[in-house]
Amino acid sequence: MESHKCPVTTSFMDHKVQSEPWEFIADLHERCPVHQVPETGIWLIVDHEASKEALLSPEIFSNQVRAASGHQAEMHKLHQQILSEEGWGHVMTLQRTDPPVHTRYRKLVNRVFTPRRVAEMAPNIDEIANDLIDGFIDSGECEFMSEFALLLPGTIITEQLGLDRSQISTFKKWADAMLAPAMRLLTEEEVREVAHSELEAQKHFDEIFEKRRKNPEEDLMSALVHSHQEGEEPLTNAELQNLMHQLITGGFETTTSALAHGVWLLIEYPDQQKLLRSNPELIEKFVEEALRFWSPVQGLARMTTQDTEVCGTTIPEGSVVSVRYGAANRDPKEFENPEVFDINREDNGSHLAFGLGAHFCPGASLARQQLKSAFTALLERTEWFEFAKPLPDPAHEPSFFLLPIEEMHLKFT
Ligand code: HEM
Repeated sequence: MESHKCPVTTSFMDHKVQSEPWEFIADLHERCPVHQVPETGIWLIVDHEASKEALLSPEIFSNQVRAASGHQAEMHKLHQQILSEEGWGHVMTLQRTDPPVHTRYRKLVNRVFTPRRVAEMAPNIDEIANDLIDGFIDSGECEFMSEFALLLPGTIITEQLGLDRSQISTFKKWADAMLAPAMRLLTEEEVREVAHSELEAQKHFDEIFEKRRKNPEEDLMSALVHSHQEGEEPLTNAELQNLMHQLITGGFETTTSALAHGVWLLIEYPDQQKLLRSNPELIEKFVEEALRFWSPVQGLARMTTQDTEVCGTTIPEGSVVSVRYGAANRDPKEFENPEVFDINREDNGSHLAFGLGAHFCPGASLARQQLKSAFTALLERTEWFEFAKPLPDPAHEPSFFLLPIEEMHLKFT
């Protein structure tokens, strides 16, 4: 594939570069803020200003991204065929739509995640965080991913879905199956396996939707089936299933990743751990700086509807563009010394870790509450934490758009 003339030749397909892209990104900021990955043809936008512009121009940078070609397209077709035959194939809702279609879905989701609802959830989130810490605190060590970072958002979503806490491993299996097709290339056997897991989840959700239509409860599913207002059409079953899919894939791995990276940063920068321990009122600033520094969603796709010039480079119509939230958050034109992790930073209000514009993360206040509850409890209940084992190298599983961590062994005093 012919790439445009960019002096940066480091390959973004290299697992190590994807895992810790900071040198590559700094080079792009300096020499090539719009870069086409030669191996895939996908364009990366790393410039903060240009990322903002793209996110605020859905008529040029559309969320309706067409599926890739070749093996991936075949596997996508098979996946959808299995889901449609026995359950619900994916319809385009919310994240895969542009205004004005997007606006209708978005209004419904906004009604579900009101700040009031999140505030009501806060005591329960604190309690779950503390219960999880009870499980390992006496031993002085833990494997943070399986004993905390997965379980906190997992338990919250599980309860919100009307499952009980004991079913969390089932839920985790469903969430992994839903994320898998977006994370890596799957074999035919794997596609069948993940589609069947998703079908199990769909059947379970469908039963609960039915029950909540008749007898609403205080949970997410009830809010979704009843979220339309008088005179509006309720969501169809296929739309409801697709929204569940997006809430789970959008809310689970991202929050897990933010928890893990927050701990990592406090260990890597012990002066900041000390500062936060002696000034717990800095917790919210710490959460924002951690989200800027190691953004859990590094980038998401858009498709250009016309030729468009970005930072002096013309991106042709029909191109897949990845807006790099994580890289924009390290743009030296926007953040002074972006490589410095500083919880007292005054200039990080413009970070793009939750996106911007119409698709700005509707779960942002829930995610922020989870991070606040988790780090408050972790810091209150320990005197110090550090790694019990070094992180693997590379530390993340390969992914074009997330930073998934498998294992993180900690010890406490
Ligand atoms: C630290 C945690 C989180 C991060 C970093 C994050 C990040 C993001 C980002 C960057 C977007 C923008 C997508 C775009 O520009 O197309 C987004 C959208 C979205 N997020 Fe989050 N998110 C987090 C937590 C959550 C939670 C807890 C939920 C749900 C419970 C959630 C559900 C969604 C949904 C449904 C969308 C699509 C919204 C739309 O297209 O209008 N996210 N998130």
